[in-house]
Amino acid sequence: MEEIEALLAKSAEHCHKTGRPWVTLSYAQSIDGCIAARPGQPLALSGTLSLTLTHQLRAAHDAILVGIGTVLADNPRLTVRLVEGVNPQPVVVDSRLRFPLDASLLRHHPLSSWIATSEHADLDRQRALEQAGARVLRLPTDLSGGVNLAILLERLGALGITCLMVEGGARIITSFLRQRLVDLLVLTVSPMLVGGLHAVNDLRQTDPACFPRLQKPHAAWRGEDLILWGELARGKA
Ligand SMILES: NC(=O)c1ccc[n+]([C@@H]2O[C@H](COP(=O)([O-])OP(=O)(O)OC[C@H]3O[C@@H](n4cnc5c(N)ncnc54)[C@H](OP(=O)(O)O)[C@@H]3O)[C@@H](O)[C@H]2O)c1
Repeated sequence: MEEIEALLAKSAEHCHKTGRPWVTLSYAQSIDGCIAARPGQPLALSGTLSLTLTHQLRAAHDAILVGIGTVLADNPRLTVRLVEGVNPQPVVVDSRLRFPLDASLLRHHPLSSWIATSEHADLDRQRALEQAGARVLRLPTDLSGGVNLAILLERLGALGITCLMVEGGARIITSFLRQRLVDLLVLTVSPMLVGGLHAVNDLRQTDPACFPRLQKPHAAWRGEDLILWGELARGKA
């Protein structure tokens, strides 16, 4: 964790220079690169020790972001309950406001969730979510109709978020990588094969020089899980 924190120390300068938070992508996968057995289903991959590391990592960030697919599948709390520390601000990317009014994030989290949605999202649904305690951020969409993540990062920077942890799921991981928005990768590899939903899908690159790549990769064991981390070189555009 100390080595990762040393990398996170760059986040303030990064945010000052770019106006966007430093982005740490962190998730747990099987040996064959899966984060779930089936799309839309939760799968516990991390052992206790690596899960504790994940909570330490959450506590080291100002905000934590997941996609609406993860909220619907896992109903996560996104807290740091396994360690002492401050809960990061939850941010959910949800262009159609499918966020359930009874989600754990609304019912069992001390902070109001920020829901990043599109400018076209339903206003009545926005009001219902706001009455339930959420804060809705309306943002332009990207070419595929999803929330424009680069603009979302600028908005989060303006709201005082200096470092952001992105936890998933597959579509969010792929979008952040495809758009070269990730600064640091912290990956938990669980010693199993799943044959299910892959974390990373089409990055729209075939030239190996363009693939995202760990610079100076580090590795350590936490129980039976392998933790891999390092800054992400984004390759040639
Ligand atoms: N192992 C792990 O560490 C881990 C971590 C997290 C999740 N998971 C698993 O991942 C699975 C969920 O993954 P998922 O791919 O279905 O959902 P996801 O990545 O959590 O959410 C994707 C959804 O976010 C919305 N979205 C809006 N703008 C987007 C953008 N620019 N790019 C991408 N998505 C955008 C889209 O829904 P709208 O069109 O409705 O806006 C999209 O379908 C679950 O099975 C969960 O258990 C595993």
